[in-house]
Amino acid sequence: MRNEVQFILNGKIRRLDKIEPTLTVLRYLREEERSMGSKEGCAEGDCGACTAVLAELEGDELRYRAVNTCIQFVGTLDGKALLTVEYLKSKGELHPVQKAMVDEQGSQCGFCTPGFVMSMFAGVQNGVAPQRQAIDDLLAGNLCRCTGYTPIINAAKKVLEQRDRTVFDARKSELVDQLKTLSLNDSVQLQAEGRIFIAPSTIDELADVLLAHPEATVLAGGTDVGLFVTKKRTHPDTLVHLGKVAELAGLSRTDEGLRIGAAVTYERAWPELKALYPGISEMIRRIGATQVRNLGTIGGNIANGSPIGDMPPALIAADATLRLRRGKETRELPLEQFFIAYGKQDRAPSEFIESILVPRPDKNAVLKAYKITKRIDQDISSVCGAFNLTFEKSGSAWTVADARICFGGMAGTPLRASECEAFLKGRIWNDETVTAAEAILRSCYKPLSDWRASADYRSQVAGNLLRKYFIETTKERTICVADRREGQEYVC
Ligand code: FAD
Ligand code: FES
Ligand code: FES
Repeated sequence: MRNEVQFILNGKIRRLDKIEPTLTVLRYLREEERSMGSKEGCAEGDCGACTAVLAELEGDELRYRAVNTCIQFVGTLDGKALLTVEYLKSKGELHPVQKAMVDEQGSQCGFCTPGFVMSMFAGVQNGVAPQRQAIDDLLAGNLCRCTGYTPIINAAKKVLEQRDRTVFDARKSELVDQLKTLSLNDSVQLQAEGRIFIAPSTIDELADVLLAHPEATVLAGGTDVGLFVTKKRTHPDTLVHLGKVAELAGLSRTDEGLRIGAAVTYERAWPELKALYPGISEMIRRIGATQVRNLGTIGGNIANGSPIGDMPPALIAADATLRLRRGKETRELPLEQFFIAYGKQDRAPSEFIESILVPRPDKNAVLKAYKITKRIDQDISSVCGAFNLTFEKSGSAWTVADARICFGGMAGTPLRASECEAFLKGRIWNDETVTAAEAILRSCYKPLSDWRASADYRSQVAGNLLRKYFIETTKERTICVADRREGQEYVC
């Protein structure tokens, strides 16, 4: 167990042992390093003013991720390189991204500019396509209050078209060599001000650490836990970080389906989930924004138990199962049984989510998930609905052989619409059935009114989403079930 965190900051090795476990990377940069390029706008992962880029070794190559430094803790940097806006200028020359922002007049007061620059830099290094949707996705996590987005988007388009990585690539081998000098595989423990940060390096060690610290807060990507500190002002006494446990970072296709390790981020799981269930891809694209998806995990989204988390409804509709572990014991639990009541999940002290199994889709089943928010990007759902119906042909008509429907935002937990599912089973999939089922959906939940949406609105939307699903799964009143296969058009 090492008692210091080791990382590279802008080409310089840092080894820190006196780090307060909940010190955010942004505070460290500004208050300890006096590196003022990264700004604090919201301190909750929304505005992107604090964006920096993590570079990590993948073989001899580097993987780049734009992240919000305001909600990340310094201990999580272990074994990585952190690049901030100060690093981009080289030999007196601006980086092409910075030049493009100047040339396109993409900056006024400049407060948001370093964050935009770092998001674009990550986009250039990752070879993001210069198309409008890709640019919107790249920049959705960066807000500007004065320039207006057109010049910024123009700057992004320009550098993404140039694909000029030569300026930075000259420094890449130096970073790779530096990263190789860090000890990557040992566990880390930091202690200061009566608080502890532990990052075990194997799953057995993680299980032991959690047995020894049943009161610990598990830390995956920190996109929820970071806000405990910056918004709720609570500082967990013990943080146990999952980021160094290789066994939790796995993503594997098996005969049963897709097994997702608890530390796998949205960005990594997204292509695999999309290949299995194309109908949930757009919902995943709208979870947070790139910086949040680069850190946030599906395991964390489930474990936090929020009734408005976006993944649980889709995963429950897919009949996903959790593997939980406590000490040496593991157990499998259907995901829907994990959510007991508001704020209460079926997880014992010292127990953690090890992985999630998402089964393969049934033949003739279509899963679609819909996220309803006040604005398109970077917003939390008012209602999130997922429909997974299996159809079978009977004579010239299609009937519903099975139905799994689950909603978030309609109750204190993600909750299946059992009454509606029972009604649909065995019925012909037509306008009459859907009209009756819509009415059931509108009355079977008792949602709350809050500042996101009124109870009436939520009920109305629940029914409307079934109608949307009906329209999308039928074509001239014929079921089209093949749309769940990647890249295929509707085949009827
Ligand atoms: P963490 O913050 O590390 O942990 C979350 C909780 O789960 C904590 O209580 C932690 O102790 C526990 N935990 C984590 N992993 C495990 C485990 N393996 N076993 C046991 N307990 C565990 N969420 C949405 O659903 N939709 C959105 O659109 C969305 N947008 C967001 C936008 C912003 C700006 C931010 C900051 C957050 C947003 N979130 C959203 C919330 C958050 O990103 C997700 O819930 C995310 O999936 C949490 O994952 P994490 O790895 O960051 O979890
Ligand atoms: Fe707003 Fe970090 S300060 S996202
Ligand atoms: Fe002022 Fe964007 S230039 S906030």
